[in-house]
Order: sequence, then C-alpha cells, then structure tokens
Amino acid sequence: MTATVRGPAIEVAGLFKSYRSKVGEQLVLDGVDLVVPVGTITALLGPNGAGKTTTVGVLSTLLRADAGAVRVAGHDVAREADAVRAAIGVTGQVTAVDDLLTGAENLRLMADLHHLGRAAGRRRTAELLERFGLTEAAGKPVAAWSGGMKRKLDLAMTLVGAPSVVFLDEPTTGLDPRSRRTLWDEVRALVAEGTTILLTTQYLEEADRLADSVAVLHGGRVVAEGTPAQLKEVHDAGTLDDVFLALTEPPAGTSGTAPGSTTEKEDVR
Ligand SMILES: Nc1ncnc2c1ncn2[C@@H]1O[C@H](COP(=O)(O)OP(=O)(O)O)[C@@H](O)[C@H]1O
Ligand SMILES: [Mg+2]
Repeated sequence: MTATVRGPAIEVAGLFKSYRSKVGEQLVLDGVDLVVPVGTITALLGPNGAGKTTTVGVLSTLLRADAGAVRVAGHDVAREADAVRAAIGVTGQVTAVDDLLTGAENLRLMADLHHLGRAAGRRRTAELLERFGLTEAAGKPVAAWSGGMKRKLDLAMTLVGAPSVVFLDEPTTGLDPRSRRTLWDEVRALVAEGTTILLTTQYLEEADRLADSVAVLHGGRVVAEGTPAQLKEVHDAGTLDDVFLALTEPPAGTSGTAPGSTTEKEDVR
C-alpha cells in the first residue's frame, strides 16, 4: 500500500551542487528552485551542460546535494533516501537494458529486484510487454532490437515497481519520429493515471506537446518557468525554440548568466 503524498510530488528549494576534481571546483547548480504538482509533467530544459542530469541525479538520490531542501514523493532525498527510492522510477540518458538478455528476461530481472515474487513478476512482465507492444519480440535478445524498442523496454523496466514519480532523462534522444510519438503516448497515459513526471529533453517541440509546465535551467538556476503557452506569450515568441534561445544566450563577457551572476528568475505563472 502506498501512502498518500501530501503537497507537490517534487519540491526543490535552493539546491546547490558542485563537482570537485583535481583541477578545481565547478559550480553546476546555483540555487535551483522547482515545484512539480502531483499528476503533472514538467519538462526541464537547458543547454548541454546546464545541469539537467545533475538535477535528476540529486532528485533520484544518486547524487548528494551540497545544500538545499529536496523532497520527492513526500520524502526528503537526503534523510529518507530509501522511501524516495521506493516511490520513484528513473530512466537515464543511457539505457539500463541488458543487450544479452531477452526483453522478458530484462523485465523479470527488474521484477526480482523489486521482490515481486515469481508469479507476480511474470504477470507484471507480461502486462508491460503488452502495454508497450513488445510481446512479439519479448523472447529475442535485446541486442537484435531497434533503438526505439530498447527505449520502450527501458521505460517499461522503470515502471515495474509502479512508481508514483518518474524521472525521464532525455528519453527520446536519437529516436525516429514514430518511436518518439509512441513514447509520448505512453508518457501521457502514465500522467493520466496520476503519475508525476519530470522529463529532460533537447527537443523543445517535445516539451511543448507534452509538458504542463516548462522550467529552463541556465547558469545554474531555473531562469524561467511556466506553461509553454505562457512562456511563448511573455517572450512574444512563436515557438519554444525562440523562447529557449532568448533565455539561454551564452554568457558574453561579464554580463552573462553564468553561475554566481544575479539573474533573477522570471516566474510567469
Ligand atoms: N560526475 C561528474 N564529475 C565532474 N563534472 C561533472 C560530472 N557530471 C557532470 N559534470 C559537469 O557538470 C555540468 C553539468 O552536467 P550535466 O548535469 O550532465 O548537464 P546536462 O544534463 O544539462 O547536459 C557539465 O559541465 C558536466 O561536465
Ligand atoms: Mg544530461
């Protein structure tokens, strides 16, 4: 039985994260604030290296924040990491699919990791294969599958534990338009069932079509947040591409939006 989550599914306040290496320290997240209501989908946008994957890493307990309050599914990611892990699913930029196993074996492996038991594991596996149209291919090693099929399997594996919050880090990168649309349909179906989704993407059309809310990460902060329509209106732009380009100009000299600058977040809600 899952406890009812009170408040937003994702709540991030003042999130800071630096990477330290021999050559020094790199500040990546410089006070990120973000709220994602239950049963909605937020797209986290930003140029390469903006810190999208880092954000997903902290929110999914894979990385530790330097400072900030982060709650996911009603639990603090630092103090209640196990409870967060039990409530979430994560699909990374690199698929977690094992090429040597068949599709069904990959799913059963996930079912074992979730301690579903033999019968329930087989039932869940069959259900998810059916849902993603992978039943026919299920007995073949994944090495022979197309990229689109592997992505679907990856998402199916994320859903084995019936997560209430799902993180999708560039789930459709490299997919052909048809596979992308199939994945969008699955994501919409999940949201309709009440699942909360935080998705990162390089495709602004994807954010436009899919997201209830868009957050643009730049210079270590969320520099704009709102519905796709609101962002377009505020920036007098025809497409999210135009909004994105206007908001994420590379830092020029001293007046850029590099971490540490005083860019104010623009909230159009
Ligand atoms: N494990 C790591 N160690 C050091 N630097 C990292 C590490 N992971 C990411 N970075 C750096 O942090 C910045 C943000 O990376 P990332 O979160 O992957 O951005 P995005 O997903 O938006 O492209 C980049 O400059 C990247 O090189
Ligand atoms: Mg990334």
